[in-house]
Amino acid sequence: MPVKYFFKVQVALTLIFIGSTANAIDLNNGKSLHQAKCYQCHAEKSGLGNGDILYTRLDRKAKDLPGVKRMVSMCNTELRLDLFPEDEVDLVAYINQQFYKYQ
Ligand code: HEC
Repeated sequence: MPVKYFFKVQVALTLIFIGSTANAIDLNNGKSLHQAKCYQCHAEKSGLGNGDILYTRLDRKAKDLPGVKRMVSMCNTELRLDLFPEDEVDLVAYINQQFYKYQ
């Protein structure tokens, strides 16, 4: 197909893709990202061999839902984990549902 049509199709597909993934929270995505990118370091840093304890310890940093968002962004930016904003949303939803249980 001629190049100019190729770009039009490309743009259309991109828009469909963005439209279909926007604002649908995916807890499973949050869970697998957590396992892949977050759990191990948290397990090591806490010294307890368990990457979930960080969230439920008494002196936890995230005291409310905005706090959870802040800490997730902080780890992402600070550590250059290269997560998309949608991934951060999924992660916040997953760890809040699983551990913090903030309203
Ligand atoms: C290379 C190590 C490392 C990685 C990778 C990492 N973190 Fe962290 N994270 C930390 C450390 C260290 C703390 C504790 C900071 C503190 O106590 O001041 C922390 C704290 C947090 C907290 C706050 C816990 C509390 O006290 O309430 C959240 C939420 C969090 N991380 C989310 C994430 C998420 C989500 C990811 C993966 C996308 C991630 N982190 C990846 C090192 C890491």
